[in-house]
Amino acid sequence: MAARTLYTAGITGVGMSFPEKRLTNAELEKLVDTNDQWIVERTGIKERRIVEKGTGSSVHGAKAAEQAMEHAGITPMDVDMIIVPTVTPDMLFPPTAGLIQEKIGAKNAWGFDLEGACSGFIFALQNARAQVEAGHARRVLVIGTEVMSAITDYEDRNTCILFGDGAGAVVVERVDESRGGIIDAINRLDGSGAKYLHMAAGGSLNTPSAETIAAKMHYVYQEGRDVYKFAVKGMAGITAEIVEKNGLTGADVDLFVPHQANIRIIKAAQRRIGLEDSQVCITIDRFGNTTAASIPSALRVALDEGRLKEGHIVVLCAFGAGFTWGSTLLRWTAP
Ligand code: UT7
Repeated sequence: MAARTLYTAGITGVGMSFPEKRLTNAELEKLVDTNDQWIVERTGIKERRIVEKGTGSSVHGAKAAEQAMEHAGITPMDVDMIIVPTVTPDMLFPPTAGLIQEKIGAKNAWGFDLEGACSGFIFALQNARAQVEAGHARRVLVIGTEVMSAITDYEDRNTCILFGDGAGAVVVERVDESRGGIIDAINRLDGSGAKYLHMAAGGSLNTPSAETIAAKMHYVYQEGRDVYKFAVKGMAGITAEIVEKNGLTGADVDLFVPHQANIRIIKAAQRRIGLEDSQVCITIDRFGNTTAASIPSALRVALDEGRLKEGHIVVLCAFGAGFTWGSTLLRWTAP
C-alpha cells in the first residue's frame, strides 16, 4: 500500500461582504437606555451593519465566497468542499453550505455547516486544513456568515449593542511546504459555559411555541460580565500558548487577528504577548461582533489595508459560547 502523503495547507484567498445598512450607536440610543460613550468605552463599537429583514446568511456568505475565490484565482468548479461556520444558518436544515453552493455554482463540492459559535471560523479552518493536509480535498471554502440581527433582542441593551451582520470567507488550499501555510492550531471546548451564553429555544430542547416567544427565548442570552472574565483568560491564554509553543514571541508576529467581541478583551490578549497596536487588526468599531464572520472579514480588511504579505506570521484567536476557544498560527501564503 502506498504511504499516505501529508500536504501543506495555506489560505490563498480572502473575501468579505456586509450589508449596506448601518446601525449606529445614536440609533440604538433611540431603542434602549444606552449612550454612545458607554458603548464605545466598554466595547469599542461605533456602528454595525444590519441586513434587510428576510435576508438569510447564505446571501452575504455567497458574496464573500465569490470575492475569496476571485482573490485566490480559482473558479467555483475548483472547490472540493465548503464548510460554513454559523450560529444563524438560513434554516436549521438543510445546511447553509448547500444554499451557498447553489448560489455560487460550486457543483463539485461537498460540505456542511459547523456550529462553534464565535470560535466557529477557527474550528472550521482547522477542519479545512486537516482535509487538505490529508489529501482528501484540494481546495476548501470556509465561509463564516451571520445574520445576528435575526436572534438579537433590540429591547435588551445588554446584547443589542454588540452584534452585527456580515460574512467573511477564505480559500484553503494545498501550498508548497516551504511557504509555511497553516502551522499550528489549538482548540478547546468547555460545555460548562453553556449557561452564560446561549439561545435557549428553536432547537430540540425548547421547540418554538407561543411561550418560548413570549419569554424571548429565541434571542441571544448573555451574562456579559461572566463571559467577559472567561473570554479575557481564554483568549489571552491561548494566544500566548500558541506563540510560545512555536518558539516565538510577540515581536515575531506580523499581524494578530482576534475575534472581535470587545476591544478590551482584544487589548488584554494583545498585552499578554506584548504587541503594539500596529500588529493588531481591529474591525469591531465598524462591524461590531459578527460571531463566526469576524476573523475572516478582518483578514480581508487587513489585506485591503496592505497589512498581509507573503511570509507574514499571522496569529488568529477566538472565544465564544460553549465555551469554545482557540488559536491558529500561520505564515501568510498570498495567491
Ligand atoms: O463573542 C462571544 C463572547 N462574548 C463576549 O466576549 C462578550 C463578553 N462580555 C462583554 O464584552 C461585556 O461584559 C459587555 C460589553 C457585554 C458588558 O460590559 P461590562 O463592562 O461587563 O458591563 P456590565 O455588564 O458589568 O454592566 C455595567 C453597567 C451595569 O449597570 P450597573 O449594574 O453598574 O448600574 C449595566 O446595567 O452598565 C450597564 N449597562 C449599560 N449601560 C449603558 C449594560 N449595558 C448597557 C448599555 N448602555 N448598553
